[in-house]
Amino acid sequence: QPVYLSDYQPPAYRVTHTELTFDLDPAATRVKARLLIERNNQADDKTPLVLDGEQLKLMSLAIDGTPLAESEYRLGDHGLEIHAVPASFCLESVVEIAPSENTALEGLYQSSGMYCTQCEAEGFRRITFYPDRPDVMATFTVTVIGDAQREPVLLANGNPVERGELEGGRHFVKWDDPHPKPCYLFALVAGDLHKVEDTFTTMSGRNVTLQIWVEKENLDKTEHAMASLKRSMTWDEQTYGREYDLDLFMIVAVNDFNMGAMENKGLNIFNSAAVLTHPDTATDAAFQNVEGIVAHEYFHNWSGNRVTCRDWFQLSLKEGFTVFRDQCFSADTNSAPVKRIEDVAFFRTAQFAEDAGPTAHPVRPDHYIEITNFYTLTIYEKGAEVVRMLCNLIGWEAFRRGADAYFERFDGQAVTIEDFVNCMADASGEDLGQFMRWYAQAGTPEIDAHGEYDYAHSEYHLTLRQRTPATPGQAQKQPLHIPVRMGLVGTKSGQDLTLTLAGETLGKDAVVHLRDDEQTFVFTDVAEAPVPSLLRDFSAPVKLHFPYSREELAFLLTHDSDGFNRWDAGQRLAMLALDDLIAAHRNGVEKVMDTRVTDAFKVLLTGAGASADKAVLAEMLTLPSEAYIAEQQPIVDVDAIHAAREFVRQSLAFALRDEFMAVVEANHTDEPYAPTPEQIAKRSLKNVALGYLMAIEDERAIAFCQEQLAAEHNMTDVRHALTLLVHSERDDLSRPALKAFGEKWAHDPLVMDQWFTIQVTKPQPDVLERVEFLMQHPAFSIRNPNKVRALVGAFAQNRINFHRLDGKGYALLADVVIELNRLNPEIAARLVTPLTRWQRFDETRQGLMRSQLERIKQEPLSSNVYEVVAKALA
Ligand code: ARG
Ligand code: ZN
Repeated sequence: QPVYLSDYQPPAYRVTHTELTFDLDPAATRVKARLLIERNNQADDKTPLVLDGEQLKLMSLAIDGTPLAESEYRLGDHGLEIHAVPASFCLESVVEIAPSENTALEGLYQSSGMYCTQCEAEGFRRITFYPDRPDVMATFTVTVIGDAQREPVLLANGNPVERGELEGGRHFVKWDDPHPKPCYLFALVAGDLHKVEDTFTTMSGRNVTLQIWVEKENLDKTEHAMASLKRSMTWDEQTYGREYDLDLFMIVAVNDFNMGAMENKGLNIFNSAAVLTHPDTATDAAFQNVEGIVAHEYFHNWSGNRVTCRDWFQLSLKEGFTVFRDQCFSADTNSAPVKRIEDVAFFRTAQFAEDAGPTAHPVRPDHYIEITNFYTLTIYEKGAEVVRMLCNLIGWEAFRRGADAYFERFDGQAVTIEDFVNCMADASGEDLGQFMRWYAQAGTPEIDAHGEYDYAHSEYHLTLRQRTPATPGQAQKQPLHIPVRMGLVGTKSGQDLTLTLAGETLGKDAVVHLRDDEQTFVFTDVAEAPVPSLLRDFSAPVKLHFPYSREELAFLLTHDSDGFNRWDAGQRLAMLALDDLIAAHRNGVEKVMDTRVTDAFKVLLTGAGASADKAVLAEMLTLPSEAYIAEQQPIVDVDAIHAAREFVRQSLAFALRDEFMAVVEANHTDEPYAPTPEQIAKRSLKNVALGYLMAIEDERAIAFCQEQLAAEHNMTDVRHALTLLVHSERDDLSRPALKAFGEKWAHDPLVMDQWFTIQVTKPQPDVLERVEFLMQHPAFSIRNPNKVRALVGAFAQNRINFHRLDGKGYALLADVVIELNRLNPEIAARLVTPLTRWQRFDETRQGLMRSQLERIKQEPLSSNVYEVVAKALA
C-alpha cells in the first residue's frame, strides 16, 4: 500500500491542454473533460493510459470522437486504464459528481452554499479522470456553468475570456490559464460572492487587478489582507526579483477548509480564518497570521507554481522554501527578533515532538501511505529551517543568485530537491553533499557541548558532540553538517570577544561547522574567561545541551549581543527552576521559588530590560509553555508540570506585583486600534503582565480586565481580558462575561471559534463536561474543520484536562476521531495526533491512550487514520 520515492517513473503520457466544462449542481455536477494527450518517448503503443479517478460516475468516454467500448478500458475504485491509445489524441470524458455530499473537503465541494475546490495533493482525481500527479503540466481552459441567481459569480484560474446567458436561468464564464500547471493547482469557485478590488503595478509596469471575494457580510474584513497582498508583491520583487505573471489575482474566503489556504494559480482559496480580519473580531495574532498566510500563498506563485514538485516526496521543495520566504517577509515587516522567537518557540515544542514520535519522517520522506498526512511541521517548518541554514551557509548573495538560477533554469518544470540544492551549490561553490543528509534523516540532532577556559594560554576549548536518536525505520544516523553560530561573551567586559580559530580571525560572531561526530574548536587569544553563546538565532534545528550555571544564564540574559539567545538564556534559566519544582512536586517536598528567576524578571521589568524592544520583552517575560516543558522531561508528569509552572507564575506575581502593575499602566493606551508593530508590542507586554497579576487574582487586575472587556474595536484586548476572567477561579466574573460575549457574537463564526477555545482551555478540572456540552451548541458543527479545531483540538492541548486519569479525555477524542474518519479523514488523522504520543507518559496513561488507539483501529478506517494509528501502535 505505501508509495516509495525509489519507485518514481516519469509519466508515460503527458497532457498538453486540458479543457473542462462544469455544469454545477449540488447532487449531480457534470464535468466534461477534453484532454489533449501525447505519449512520452520512453513509452510505446503497448503502454496503457492510466488515469486517476475516485468517486466519479462515468457517463461517457471517447478517443478522438469515437466512444470506447467497455472492453477497451478497465474501471476500478481508484481510476481508469485504457488498454491501447494512439501516440497523440484527444480524450473526452463526462463524469458526474456530488459536491453537496463531499464532507472530506477534497475535490469539488460546497461550503456555506457556495462551490469551491481543494485539489492539492490528490483532490483533482475526485473531479475528473486525469493523471493526477504534479509532473504532468498542462494549460487549462475552464467553462463554469451555474444558476444565475444562486451562483452569480463563477471563478476559475487565469483570465476570464467569455461569458454569457444560457437557457433555464443559467449562465457561464469561460476562463483561460496560459501557464502550464499541474492539476493540483486547479481551482473553481461559484456562489453569491462579493468582491473588494484594488490594483498593483508590477516592477515592469504591468497593471494587475487584485480581488478578494467574500460573503457579503464580510466585505468590511478584507482591508488587511489586501494591504498584506500588496506588501507581499512588492517584497518579492525587491527581495527575489519575482514579478506576478497574470492580469488578475484573486483570493476567495471559504468557511469550510481543511488547512489555512491554497495557492491555486491566480485564484488562491483561503480558510476564512486565514484572510478575514477586523479590529472588532480579530486579535493581533490573527492579523499577523493573515499577513503571513497571504504572503505564503502569494510567494508560491514562483516557489511552487512556476517551478513545481516532480512528485509529492519533494513537497518540502515548495513548502520549506515558501515558509522560509514568508518568515523573512514577516520579519522584515514586523519585529524580526520576535518573529524568530515565536517561530522557534513553536518549532521546538511541536516539531521536536513530531520528530520524537511514531510518525517522525525526514524532510523528504521516502515512502508514505497517504500524502495528506505529510503536510507536517517537518515538511513545512523543518524544511524552512533547512533552507535557512543553506542561506546562512552560503550567504544571502549567493543564495539569491542560486534562487535566480533555480527560477530561470526550471521555469515551467516539475523538479526535485537536488535541483534546488544544486543551484545553491553552483552559485556558491560550496560542497553541499553532507548537507543533503538534512533532507534524508529524520529525528532531532542533539549537540552535547562543553567548554573550558585555559587561563595559562588564553585559550577557550569548545567541544561539540552530535548524535541523532533513532527514529522509526531509521536506526542508524550519520553525522550532519551543522552550522553553529556563536560568540564568546567576556565575563569581565560583558562584550563579545574576537574569535580566532586556527590562526584565522573570524570576528565577534561567527559560524563554526560541526561535521563530525565530535569536534573540538580551540579559540586562541581569548583575553578573559568567557561564557559561550551558542546556536545564535537558532542557527540549526537541533537540541543544544550545555552545562550552564544559573549565574551564567543570568549573565547571558543581560549581556548576550544576540537577542534570540538573550531570550533563550531566560528560557533555560526558567527551565532549571521549573525542573526543581517539578521534582519537589513529585516528591511531595515544599516548593521554593528560585530567587535568581525573580531577580532576572525584576531586571527585565524595571532595570536595563525595560528599555528593550517591548515585543521582545513580552516574550522574555513569558515562561516556557507546559507543552515545551513536557518536551524536556523523559516522562511527562502532566500535573507536576502544571503545578510547577503555576507556582512560578504566582511567585513572580506576588514578588513583583507593583512592577507588573506599572507595566500594565504604562502600556495601556486609548489610541484607536491598529495592527502596527508598535501597538502590538505594547499590547502584548501589557497583556503578559496582566496575566501574571490574574494568576494571583489581584483586585486591581480584575478591575482592569473588566474594563478592558469593554474595549472598543479591539478584539485583542477583549479576548485577552475574557480569557483571564474565564480562566480565573472566579465564577462570578467568568459566567456573565462569557454569556454576554457569546450572545454578542453568535452571528460571527470566527469569533465563536474563539469563544469555544477560551472555554475549553481553562485550567480548572471541569472542562471535559464543557466540551461535551458545547459540541451540542448550535454554533458547533463537526463538519467544519475550524470548529473541530477550536473546540476538540483546543481541548486536546489542555494538558491537565485532556490527560485526566479516568481516561475520559482520551475517549472523547477517540469518539470524535471515529466520527470524523467517515466524514473528513484528513482532519480525523490530524486530530488523533495527541493520542499517538502515548510513549511519553506514565504507564497508566500509556495504557489508557493505547486502548483508545486500539478502539479506533477496530473501525473500518480511511487510509489517513489507518496510517497514523498503525504507526502509533507499531
Ligand atoms: N499548499 C498549501 C499551502 O501550504 C496547503 C495544501 C493543503 N493540502 C492539503 N491536503 N490539505 O499553502
Ligand atoms: Zn504552502
